[in-house]
Amino acid sequence: MKSIKIFAPATVANLSCGFDILGCCLDTVGDEMVITLTSEPGVKITRIDGANLPMETHKNVAGVAVQALLAAYGNDVGVEIEIYKKIKAGSGIGSSAASSAGAVWAVNHLLDQPFTVHELIKFAMEGEKLASGNAHADNVAPALSGGFTLVRSYNPLDVIKLHTPKDLVMTVIHPQIEVKTSDSRSVIRHNVKLRQAIQQWGNVGGLVAGLFTEDYALIGRSLEDVIIEPMRSILIPEFKAVKDAAIAKGALGCGISGSGPSIFALNKGMETANAVAEAICKVYDKTGLDFDIHVSKINDHGIKIINE
Ligand code: HSE
Repeated sequence: MKSIKIFAPATVANLSCGFDILGCCLDTVGDEMVITLTSEPGVKITRIDGANLPMETHKNVAGVAVQALLAAYGNDVGVEIEIYKKIKAGSGIGSSAASSAGAVWAVNHLLDQPFTVHELIKFAMEGEKLASGNAHADNVAPALSGGFTLVRSYNPLDVIKLHTPKDLVMTVIHPQIEVKTSDSRSVIRHNVKLRQAIQQWGNVGGLVAGLFTEDYALIGRSLEDVIIEPMRSILIPEFKAVKDAAIAKGALGCGISGSGPSIFALNKGMETANAVAEAICKVYDKTGLDFDIHVSKINDHGIKIINE
C-alpha cells in the first residue's frame, strides 16, 4: 500500500477583476490529507477531522474528483482518503478546492504521474461542481499549479500560469460567518454594461502585465472590481471599512476573496502585510464578530508533500 501525506493550500480566487478566471495560491494556510492506494477498487473517505463534511464518496468533493481521475485512468485501483480540514467551508479561501485538488494531485503522484496538471485541474473541477453547482477552476488551478493562474478559456479549458513577483504578500481576514458559494453566486446579475466590461478587462490585462513586469503600482491599480464587488460586498460585514483601512496602510489593493466572506489585501512586503493585518483586525474587533487573520507569502509550488 502506497501512501502520502500532503499540504493542500488555500487559494484566493477572482483577485477583484478576474471573476472565475484569476486566482493565487497561499503558503501558510491549508489542509492536510493522507491518500493511500489500496488493492480493493473504489474510492473511500476513511476520516474527516476538523469539519462536518459528507463521508459518502459521491457527496464528497475529494471523492468525486478522484472518481473522475480513476474513470480516466481505466485500471481498477482503490483509494482511501483522510482529510484534516483547517480551511473552513464557506470561507472564500478555497476550502473545497483544497480537498479536490489535493486528492487528485496525491493520487496522480502515487500512480507515477499519468496525468498532466491541466488534466488534474479538470478532475478537481468536478469537486467544485459538486460544491457550488459550477465547475469553476480559479481555485483548483492555483492550488495545483502554485502561484497566480489565469483561466483564459473554459471551453476548451486553457489555464495559464502567470509570474509571481517575489515581494507580494497576502493578508486575509476571515469573518467567522459562512457564505455558501452558491448563495454568493445567486446575488450576481448576469447582465454587464459595456463600459463596466471595458474597465474590467482593462484591469485583467493590467494585472497580468503588472505580475509579469513586477510593476507593483500597476498591480495595485488593476485590483479593481466594478462588476461583482458592488453586488457581493453587501454580504460581508464592514467590507468598506476593511478596504479603506487596508489601502490607508499601504496595501496595493483589497477585495473579496473568492465568493467571500474573506477579504484579501495584496501587499508589497511583509512589513506592510503585517501592518494591514493589524489595521483590519482593529476594524473587526469593533464588530464583536469572531474572525481569523492570515498573512501569507504567495506559494509558487502549490500542493506540497509532508511525508510519504
Ligand atoms: N470564482 C468563484 C466565485 C470562486 O467567485 O464564485 C469561488 O470560491
